[in-house]
Amino acid sequence: MILNRIASIKPHHLLDVGCGCGNFTAQIAPYCKFITAIDTSDVWLKRAQNEQKLSNVKFEKMDAQDISFQGKTFDVVISRATLHHVNRWQQAIDHMLRVSKNRVLIEEPFDDLRSESRKNTYDVQQFFLELQNEIGYSHFNHIEPKLVSEYLKNKGVQFEMEIKKSDDQLDFNDHFGPFDSFVQKSSRKEEWIERYSRLKEKYAAKEFTAPDTILFSIFLHD
Ligand SMILES: C[S@@+](CC[C@H](N)C(=O)[O-])C[C@H]1O[C@@H](n2cnc3c(N)ncnc32)[C@H](O)[C@@H]1O
Repeated sequence: MILNRIASIKPHHLLDVGCGCGNFTAQIAPYCKFITAIDTSDVWLKRAQNEQKLSNVKFEKMDAQDISFQGKTFDVVISRATLHHVNRWQQAIDHMLRVSKNRVLIEEPFDDLRSESRKNTYDVQQFFLELQNEIGYSHFNHIEPKLVSEYLKNKGVQFEMEIKKSDDQLDFNDHFGPFDSFVQKSSRKEEWIERYSRLKEKYAAKEFTAPDTILFSIFLHD
């Protein structure tokens, strides 16, 4: 969703908040004159720097909740699938609004539990979140669009919302790709492995659907 917007806006200087390994940054790079891409993870930033050979992108370690750029440095600021990893997402939005001249684009997955297969996805996610929280990995429940929308209304900014409903079917294992690496960091490995195998048994014959996605396009004026 953000990709199409960036392709038509053609930003001069874009800030990508929570760039991860830079795969998405690389997708938007051809449409931007310059990108500053920030993340808190040394591991992801190192991968981004090594793997993405992008002459117009600078990767930098910085927390979304404490963006240190002064004034309106960027014409466009984006965050994609990042805010549900941030403890104080409201603070991150404040910073994003502060450093953007024209536009802030926020894309997030969200849970609309309108079908059994979406409820299954949600239940399995809860298990994974519990493990991640135990080992101190920053990952929270998907943010309710209503909360973001109320927050933006209270700030008095002009914005639009666009929802992309998902029909993508997932496999049980799609949720648990990195299970092994997370479980290794827990002091209760055996307990988690035991719970995981019970969960797998319970959901063996069930279906899973990927969460929907919402895009907030925020328009700023000088
Ligand atoms: C699911 S990834 C999204 C990566 C990328 N934006 C994409 O769309 O593919 C979430 C990223 O947010 C980063 N992150 C988590 N908390 C953060 C924070 N407080 N400030 C900046 N980045 C953060 C994580 O390290 C991770 O790389």
